[in-house]
Amino acid sequence: MPLSVPFVAEVIPTDKVDVAFKDLDAAILVGSMPRREGMERKDLLKANVAIFKSQGEALDKYAKKTVKVLVVGNPANTNCLIAAKSAPSIPKENFSCLTRLDHNRACSQVAMRCGISANSVKNMIIWGNHSSTQYPDIHHCKVNVQGKDVTAFDAVKDDAWLKGEFISTVQRRGAAVIKARKLSSAMSAAKAICDHMRDIWTGTTEGEFISMGVYSTGNPYGVPEDLIYSFPVSIKDKAWKIVDGLAINDFSKAKMDATAAELVEERDTAVSFLGV
Ligand code: LMR
Repeated sequence: MPLSVPFVAEVIPTDKVDVAFKDLDAAILVGSMPRREGMERKDLLKANVAIFKSQGEALDKYAKKTVKVLVVGNPANTNCLIAAKSAPSIPKENFSCLTRLDHNRACSQVAMRCGISANSVKNMIIWGNHSSTQYPDIHHCKVNVQGKDVTAFDAVKDDAWLKGEFISTVQRRGAAVIKARKLSSAMSAAKAICDHMRDIWTGTTEGEFISMGVYSTGNPYGVPEDLIYSFPVSIKDKAWKIVDGLAINDFSKAKMDATAAELVEERDTAVSFLGV
């Protein structure tokens, strides 16, 4: 089949798991059950547990043990956790969920405010859940203004906006896009998926970090274990590492705890459906 994208050798449309998941190096799990009118959050989690349990089991059975799995379908963090738990032969570190979309949105909010391009904004952090409780944190962000790196506070010069409207805009951006388009984000989500996967394969730049939802062990930053939680990470040789030692003030800590609490509740509800 002639293709206009030179590095695509073949496209195999299939609904057979043994074909779709065979020997995968990378899996991008996009499809999930969207919330419908009148649907309780619990019902949504139950439907998605069934989907991501079977995808996890298929990965476990057919994919390479080195496969890198990116979960995009919402609720992405908890869906990712269920897929990871359902694939015990694949390391949990190989599973991540997409918060690069939120990360990119946060960078672009700051960039627009400063009248610069989004790639002049580095070291943004999205903490926690890909939901309205996520915490976009600008305290470690560097903004390149006229060739010089300054803090977001110095670049934006509006602390009230950074601590208020900036955060709520990023938190609600997904819902705002759905309201405007009657469909969820497409181009920006696709761009974020490319950014996320490219960084896994090629690594992050020395001294810089990006956000992704990864498996929490050993309470980094006081985040409970056994969650897929979005952290600042650096990546080398296809392995991510949580950037540790960043100073966290009380304002940030409260928001990081709130989004962790939501994830604990989601996890506990989802896990209760695993054996059902
Ligand atoms: C987004 O953030 O744009 C999407 O995750 C929203 C959604 O629910 O599809």
